[in-house]
Amino acid sequence: MKGIILAGGAGSRLYPLTLVASKQLQPVYDKPMVYYPLTTLVEGGVREFCLVSTPHDLPRFRQLLGDGSQWGLSIEYREQAKPEGIAQAFRIAASFVGNDPVTLILGDNIFYGGDAFHRAFSDFRTGATIFGCHVNDPERYGVVEFDASGKALSIEEKPARPRSNHAVPGLYLYDNEVVEIARNLKPSARGELEITDVNVEYLRRGTLRVERLTRGFAWLDAGTSSSLHEASAYVQTIEKRQGIKVGCPEEAAFRRGFIGIRELEALVARLPNCEYRAYLESVAEEARRG
Ligand code: DAU
Repeated sequence: MKGIILAGGAGSRLYPLTLVASKQLQPVYDKPMVYYPLTTLVEGGVREFCLVSTPHDLPRFRQLLGDGSQWGLSIEYREQAKPEGIAQAFRIAASFVGNDPVTLILGDNIFYGGDAFHRAFSDFRTGATIFGCHVNDPERYGVVEFDASGKALSIEEKPARPRSNHAVPGLYLYDNEVVEIARNLKPSARGELEITDVNVEYLRRGTLRVERLTRGFAWLDAGTSSSLHEASAYVQTIEKRQGIKVGCPEEAAFRRGFIGIRELEALVARLPNCEYRAYLESVAEEARRG
């Protein structure tokens, strides 16, 4: 499965932080935000990536992530000239997707815990898989309504009167039909190609699966100054208490077997002396000990 990371947008809600660095490059505790969604997809087994961002911000992402080969990945880059909707990513990255299934993750969505995604990735065959996560403020998101048997009945984008408390987070798995579906979409009233319209089309075709994320799973949104701060505090708490890192692409690539112990050690040797390096050293040492 191929992976698209959507990391554009105006970042206006984080102004003035976003004057010089885009939202997805801002720190979430000890790493740039984009490390988290990248790691989520690497954990899901994705190796081929296309990062979509603004012409202004793309050079910075290239500087940060390179061509991905250092982590056993390949990363391509494509421009989104204007933020004309999340689903536009499938038009922009159509030649990258080719005939493969594809997962899209939003560059400001942070996930932690559980193995719901692992299963979703390994079980995925056709149609679409999206997720439903209980939140306090569903009106800010795509909202999915379920019937008594847990089957999805409707999906609405930012409804004034939400039919449930289940928001759809920014991680979507699609078969290759998504390319044609996105090509035929019309802009919504707010002038965007809506990801919710893609999901509604899969629902209409009877090929949409919605997996509910259960307790023990954290979905953090880092789109405002407050939620960015909260996401940092959350990551800090987990990392300090458990002595593990959240959103560490080197570790995820190693655990997935995309790089071996020698490559991991060579990567570590190139890092400056810092806590991140010490952590990766400990990952390598533990692996050596078995
Ligand atoms: O976070 C999950 C929610 O993301 C979903 O529940 C909604 O269904 C979905 O529409 C989206 O809602 P948002 O209001 O959060 O979307 P926003 O416009 O903030 O865009 C999400 C991210 O995608 C943001 O980091 C910027 C980036 N983006 C967005 C658009 C519209 C782009 O890179 N290009 C775009 O054209």
